[in-house]
Amino acid sequence: MRARPARLERLPEQYFTGLLARVARATAEEGEPLVDLGRGNPEVGPPGHVVERLVDAGRRPSVHGYPPFRGLPPLREAIAARYAARYGVELDPEREVAVLPGTKTALVEAALATAERGTTILLPDPGYPDYHSGAALAGAAVAPLPLDPLAAWAPDFGSVRASDVAALYLNYPSNPCAVAVRPGTFADAVRFAERTGAAVVHDFAYGDLVFDGRSAESFLAAPGAREVGVELFSMSKSYGMAGWRLGFVVGNAELVERLNVLQDHTRAGVFAAVQEAAVAALAAPEEHVRERAARYERRRDAVLAALAGSRVDSVNSEATFYVWLRLPEGVTAERLLVEQRLAVAPGGGFGSRGRGWTRLSLAVSDETLALGLERLRRAVA
Ligand SMILES: Cc1ncc(COP(=O)(O)O)c(C=O)c1O
Repeated sequence: MRARPARLERLPEQYFTGLLARVARATAEEGEPLVDLGRGNPEVGPPGHVVERLVDAGRRPSVHGYPPFRGLPPLREAIAARYAARYGVELDPEREVAVLPGTKTALVEAALATAERGTTILLPDPGYPDYHSGAALAGAAVAPLPLDPLAAWAPDFGSVRASDVAALYLNYPSNPCAVAVRPGTFADAVRFAERTGAAVVHDFAYGDLVFDGRSAESFLAAPGAREVGVELFSMSKSYGMAGWRLGFVVGNAELVERLNVLQDHTRAGVFAAVQEAAVAALAAPEEHVRERAARYERRRDAVLAALAGSRVDSVNSEATFYVWLRLPEGVTAERLLVEQRLAVAPGGGFGSRGRGWTRLSLAVSDETLALGLERLRRAVA
């Protein structure tokens, strides 16, 4: 067989595969049972009626064929209705909504749909490591968009030196920084895009998981946003449907069409039963989503209480289901793993500006979190 094509060689090590392997090795070693606060995998599924809808749909003989490649019209209408009701954004379900098997797919395909070889994609630093994958496959260069820890991790557009920027990825609420968007950030991104011709790809995976009375803010609500970019909405976190693999790309009609062309060529839609159940989820009262956010907020409070009076001096958690904190001198993620049998996500894996920080997941049971906090407290007291 010939050598691997260069585009595969360009792919970086997948951060979470590496992390899982490291945690699995540690689990196999002798010692008390490992506590894993490293992974962000929703621990509670969608409401019961959504699962029932999936089961009922699955019993219908006609549901098992190929679905329409571009998604069921009622599903596109349901996400448009939710965007209008929840974020005050009107979407045309025909032209401004693409249905994809999860936003991880969309993150890669957005790079393929915007960047030529040799152009640059700006990625938040610190940011979600998978953003690098699409740029690598597209043959694009990557340049950091530094997030400023002294400005609640808002992007510092003034320090960007890259030229020929094809796309700019943003992510608020932020994984890993666990902050909500600051006023003016989306407007700055629109101005940057207008000046440079870059497309904005806003990853809204944690959109609804905001705390302390904040309201969820869509990039598309910013004036001019729809002319320059798209937003990625995921069913995974708001509804606990990560394993179902369903997400949306909404906004700029030209970019939505490009994503749809890629779907036409590389997939044959998403299982119709999953789409029908998602309609039920999107149309349900928002209470379930609010309860989910409230549960993570309660756990966030437990983390703050556990760290009060400790050597940890910087803790962020106003959104998402993470806590992003700076580890005190001498404490590292590796030492937590080996000495405390506690797995966390090391901040350096999210970019050079994440070094010295670490991410804890709140998407675990209360008991697991309590045990993890006991061990963390031991290390940082
Ligand atoms: C910031 C961010 N974006 C996107 C995704 C992918 O979500 P999906 O399940 O829709 O593929 C994740 C998943 O953890 C994430 O943390």
